Order: sequence, then structure tokens, then C-alpha cells
Amino acid sequence: MKTLTELSEWQALQSHYAEIKGEQMVNLFADNPDRFNEFSVQACGILLDYSKNRVNKKTLQLLLALADEVGIADHAAAMFRGDRINATEDRSVLHSALRMPADQSLVVDGVDVVADVHKVARQAAEFVDKVRSGEWLGYTGKPIKTVVNIGIGGSDLGPLMVCEALKPWQQRSLEFRFVSNVDGTHITEALSGLDADTTLFIVASKTFTTQETLANAHTARNWFLESGNESDIAKHFVAVSTNESAVADFGIDVANMFRFWDWVGGRYSLWSSIGLAIRLSIGNDNFDQMLAGAHAMDQHFATAETHRNLPVILALLGVWYGNFFGARSQVVAPYDQYLHRFPAYLQQLDMESNGKQVRIDGQPVDTATGAVLWGEPGTNGQHAFFQLIHQGSDLIPVDFITAARSCNESGSHHSMLLANCIAQTEALMTGKSRSQVEMELRDSGMTDDEIGKLAPHKVFTGNRPTNTIMVEQLTPAALGSLIALYEHKVFVQGKIWGINSFDQWGVELGKQLAAAVLSELESGNIGEHDSSTTGLMRYCQQYRQN
Ligand code: F6P
Repeated sequence: MKTLTELSEWQALQSHYAEIKGEQMVNLFADNPDRFNEFSVQACGILLDYSKNRVNKKTLQLLLALADEVGIADHAAAMFRGDRINATEDRSVLHSALRMPADQSLVVDGVDVVADVHKVARQAAEFVDKVRSGEWLGYTGKPIKTVVNIGIGGSDLGPLMVCEALKPWQQRSLEFRFVSNVDGTHITEALSGLDADTTLFIVASKTFTTQETLANAHTARNWFLESGNESDIAKHFVAVSTNESAVADFGIDVANMFRFWDWVGGRYSLWSSIGLAIRLSIGNDNFDQMLAGAHAMDQHFATAETHRNLPVILALLGVWYGNFFGARSQVVAPYDQYLHRFPAYLQQLDMESNGKQVRIDGQPVDTATGAVLWGEPGTNGQHAFFQLIHQGSDLIPVDFITAARSCNESGSHHSMLLANCIAQTEALMTGKSRSQVEMELRDSGMTDDEIGKLAPHKVFTGNRPTNTIMVEQLTPAALGSLIALYEHKVFVQGKIWGINSFDQWGVELGKQLAAAVLSELESGNIGEHDSSTTGLMRYCQQYRQN
């Protein structure tokens, strides 16, 4: 089997890169007045404008040929039908089944997974209706006021991001708090000011073995037992997990457990029972709208031709910059305050999925794989790190994400937000030449000497690539489509690089060593380590004993 770099499609891209790397986007626009129409796609209520990229028609053809050659369509079909494409864990990858409508079916290993998904969804929906309506009562007979989600990674980032993103749909009589960090500060602050008799804890953990989550859950339970009794726990603790026996061992009534399945990866799990906090926040109907939006994107990804396929295009552009231009990082800038946790959520989705150096067949990759993903909401990022994107030495592609209509139209705020978003893409593309800078400085009355000193600092090279992803408004359905768009983008890139995007062995070693360090820190018997590890432990010991 040929490696990626041995493919003729890859080599054709390499030659093409040599031809196009000096090409200026401003010239591509000048030469083609229809460039926006030719290099933008709309589907599932999302507009993807990718015209401000260093690509022409030939680039696109070559990238699409690569996607064909590596078999994206077949691999997607295998995922959607439940083949065990997560080979290192011998699991199907079926988050798409979580958003399939109830009247459809998907039989995998003799089980109709869609029927099972909807069975659990109904259980969650009934519970959610009871809590939201005030029918579910705490141990003193009062309705729930605060929901505390205890989980980490995919059991935190997705639910937290969506609860924040869909705040306009939140039932405001309920307050939501999220605890993830094992740092006791997190749970201490989260519990501060709460009344045990009106607080509901969701202990969310796929495995129910995660150190951080179990530590926080135990602390929450001890805190609760300062007010309530063991027999009251069932009214205040529910679990979301695949591990029924561990839930029972923890002391949560399994009648209050919402299941899901090993074929749902943690970072793909917000659509499952892990989304219980989301359901509680926005209600079942809105949750269903979010699922419908994601399902529409699944359909689009599965059926649209590659040249009009949003996830495929987004993924190929990432490969183009990451592998040919050598861009090692990618910014996501949501121009929507409600999406302020979206970059953090995407970091797990993208980097835990595609941060791999070994192919699925066990051989080392021969290209770079997942880039570093980072970002902050606009316009805040403009006043922080955008300097580096405009004038830094690295090429950093940016995804701008925004909504044409705000959920909070007030005065000119939204026009200003949109103006900044759009203007950034224009500035990054056009830049500002030395002659323009000199002219402006001359017009401001500067001498030639002054201009000579200042001008180099005010030049923008431009030609910096961006995608703009717009929705009409950030509704539950639009958010569902947007998240699924990125899920499938990650999938396509993983397939191109030949890696398994659905395992995460890289998180294990740190967990193992932390267990050893913990027992040594607690016992005071520091074992054999390198001098740095020992030195750090001794330093902690010194201050913890005093
Ligand atoms: O350590 C990484 C990880 O396994 C993630 O993949 C996962 O989302 C997170 O930990 C939490 O796992 P769990 O839901 O089993 O507690």
C-alpha cells in the first residue's frame, strides 16, 4: 500500500503548491469577479465562504482528487452504517445514530441502535420535563433551582459549550454550573452559595472511572450529606454513563442513570445522555432541533458531491495549509459571544481526534497531522493575538464564525460585530503595501526620514487565508449543523492522514504516572524518578507538611 506522500495525487499537489505559493489572493479576486460565488457553498443553513483562500480551480480539483483517492466517501459510509472503524478499540463510531429520527432504523450487530437511542432519549426527556416543570422535588419538597454537571473532557466541554451557546433558549429559573477540574477550587466555587435541597447533580462520565469526575462527585456527595441523608441522594444525584455497576457502586440509584453506548466517543457525546444538562437548559424540543440540525449535516456529508460538501472542503483546506504551506496552527474565531466556549470544545474534538503520529495500520505517518487549534471570540481576539495573525512570521488560517442576526439586537452592536468580522477577513487577505503606507504617512505630514523609519512596521503582507462560516441566527438547529460540520471535517482529515480519529491513547500515560505520583505525594515516600520530577515533588512536600 502506498503511503500518503507516495500517492500521485499528493505529488500533484506538491507541484501545484510550487506554482501557486507566490500567487496573491487580491489578484485571484481581480481576475475573477465571480470568485465569491465559485468558492462558497450553502447547505443546512450554513454559508461557507472559502474564496479568501490561496486556492484556484486547479487547487480544488487536486484536493478533491486526493479525497477521492483515499476513499472518503466509502469511509463515511462505513461509519454511518456502524462498521468498527475505530479499530484500535474495536468499536463502531455512531454519534450520527444519536441524531437519526425515530422513524428510521439502523441495525448493527443485530440491534436497532436508533430504537435504543430513542428509548433512552424518552427516559431523559421525561426526567427533563419533570425537573423543568417543578414536578421533580428535592428532599424538602422544593423544586430544583441549580443543576451542577460534574464531568470532564467530552463529558463537560460539549454540554458546557452548548448551554452557553443556546442561552437565549435557557429556562432561566434554572441555573447551570459545570465542574470539571480536579482542583478543589472548582467544586468549592461551584458549590458556593447553593442549597442542597434545591441542587441536582449530574455525574457525567462515560467510563465512570475518571479520577477528576469521581473525586468531584464524592466531594459533592459529602457536601450534600452535610444537609441531607443517604436516602435523599436519589432525588439529587443522577448519572450519565455506560458503566452501570460503577454507578451503582458510587451510590447512585441506577433508576436515575441515563445510559449510552461504547460507540459514542467522549468528544462526540453531547448528542447522547451526556447532553442531559443541555436538555435541562433548553428543553426537549430545542434539543431535538439541535439533533435535527446535526442530522441534516450528516445527510449533507453523506450525499453531497465533494465539491459542494462543506466538511470535505473545510477539511481539504486544512490539509492544504497544514501539509503544503506548513501551517502548524489554526485559529477559530467565533464572532458571537454565545460561542465563547466553542474553541475550547473544538480543541478536544480536533486535537484529541487527530493528534496522532501513527497510522491506523501501525506504521508512522509520513506527513504532519492535526494542527494546534486555538481561538477566542471576536472582537476580543483582535485586541489580543490578531497582531500575530496579521504580521507574525507564521501563516495561520482563521475560521471566522458568525450569525447574520443576533439573538440580542441592540442598537448598532451587531452591525459593529459583523463589520469587524468581515473587515478582518478583508484585511488579512488584502494587506497593505509599502507604497500605500508611505502615501498615508506622507498625507499625515511626515518627513521622508520619519516615513522611512515607520513604514516597514505598518506594512501588512496580506494573503492570509480565512474561511467565513455564517448562519442566519445561532438557533439550536444551526448550532447542531455547525458542530456536526466540524465533527465531519475532523473525520475527513483523519482519513486523509490515515490515522484513527476515534481513539485517544495519548492521554493514558499521564493518567498512569499521576496515580503513582499521587500515592508518593500522599505517603511521603518519594520513589525513583528523574531529578526534575523528584525535585518538584520534594518542593511540594516541603510546603504541604508545614
Ligand atoms: O482522558 C480523556 C478522556 O477519555 C476523554 O476522551 C473523555 O472525553 C474524558 O476523558 C472523560 O471521560 P469519561 O466521560 O469516561 O469520564
